[in-house]
Amino acid sequence: MKNHRESGHRIQILTEVCPQIFHYSIKKYEGLSPYPALSGAKINRIYYLAFLGGIRENLAEKWYVAAFFKMVKIKGVFMNVLVIGGAGYIGSHVVRELLDQGHTVTVYDNLSLGQRENLFSEASFVYGDILDYSRLLKTAVSGSFQALVHLAAFKAAGESMIIPEKYSLNNISGTINILNVAVEAGIKNIIFSSSAAVYGEPEYLPVDEQHPLQPENYYGFTKLEIERFLSWYDKLKGIRFAALRYFNAAAYDSNQRIKGFEINPSNLIPIVLEVAAGIRSEVQIFGNDYGTRDGTGVRDYVHVSDLARGHLLALDYLSKNNKSIICNLGSESGISVQEIIDTARKITGQVIPARVVARRPGDPAVLTASAQYARTALGWIPRYSDLETIITSTWEHYLLLKKNHEINL
Ligand SMILES: NC(=O)c1ccc[n+]([C@@H]2O[C@H](COP(=O)([O-])OP(=O)(O)OC[C@H]3O[C@@H](n4cnc5c(N)ncnc54)[C@H](O)[C@@H]3O)[C@@H](O)[C@H]2O)c1
Repeated sequence: MKNHRESGHRIQILTEVCPQIFHYSIKKYEGLSPYPALSGAKINRIYYLAFLGGIRENLAEKWYVAAFFKMVKIKGVFMNVLVIGGAGYIGSHVVRELLDQGHTVTVYDNLSLGQRENLFSEASFVYGDILDYSRLLKTAVSGSFQALVHLAAFKAAGESMIIPEKYSLNNISGTINILNVAVEAGIKNIIFSSSAAVYGEPEYLPVDEQHPLQPENYYGFTKLEIERFLSWYDKLKGIRFAALRYFNAAAYDSNQRIKGFEINPSNLIPIVLEVAAGIRSEVQIFGNDYGTRDGTGVRDYVHVSDLARGHLLALDYLSKNNKSIICNLGSESGISVQEIIDTARKITGQVIPARVVARRPGDPAVLTASAQYARTALGWIPRYSDLETIITSTWEHYLLLKKNHEINL
């Protein structure tokens, strides 16, 4: 009887002291995927069953306690992660996903394009600039971080062609600081936000990782340079990295846990919905005489929650394989400008005025990703990247902002 009571007590301690590890171990050992969020009720049931299991017999106690220690020992299951640029659009979704999976997160951001509303109370926040080496180093050494995610950059391709020096400083010098700090602080794993812009004009479709790398804008050049720096730091300093080449990030967390919004959105979907919301007056369609199904340009849009999930899988990959990876994250489906406008009109019920203007130089007719490598190497499967879900979650986000009086509709 004493044993039974003791084992029950220990399970209780386990659930109370370290609920996240307990969740993970239960989910994993029950054969459930550790990733889909379990409802509160289901978690309570698992706790209850675990508690009963604990008091039923000593064996159960050994089983759960062994599972617990195994989980703790598995390198990389729960990490301290430094997320640089974590107050931004994609960064906030990545932080949410990391927290949901039980990681401990510190966000480092200068809030130049990020927002306080995007910060979560469960994560620590350091207000700082990546160009401030000593602050960055102080933050990096103080956290015993096993990994860092680097999303801090400027991303406006057009602007990068006019003010390249701004991009050299932030995207390149800032990243060199991050790499050197990682070396000094002993952080061995880096997830880097790269971009489809490293490819330039597609020579074939869909674009895979073997495609020639010929960026057509300075922004894409900065991303490619960083990938090259990363490869050298891998060789010379043993830093393992995942360079994730995002295609067009779109939408918002469907559970509406992100409270901010993307500042200066660079792709079409938020622009279309800003027109629907009355923030902009019209959508410009840059050319309707391409050789595509409706004459307008076709791009690959990937839901930001799918992207965020890709970062978690990349962390798993680095900790299990101890080798670097470069891969595309795209939905693999091409959506035209006209299809986006039509779907947005249907979902929002708004008119969304649109006007055809001249093609932009350097805009390819079609740009779509092959994400085959991410699927096989990381096990990444986009779940939310269909057009309806993307438009609906973006629109719901705008309605939420309206409710919170952050925008006028
Ligand atoms: N949004 C996309 O479609 C897309 C596509 C491909 C790649 N990317 C890349 O993904 C990353 C994140 O993009 P996003 O859309 O979330 O952009 P974002 O502008 O919303 O986020 C960038 C974050 O970095 C912070 N930041 C910028 N410069 C900084 C500095 N010097 N010091 C500290 N913090 C700084 C900003 O305040 C912001 O919070 C960027 O590196 C971008 O190039 C984005």
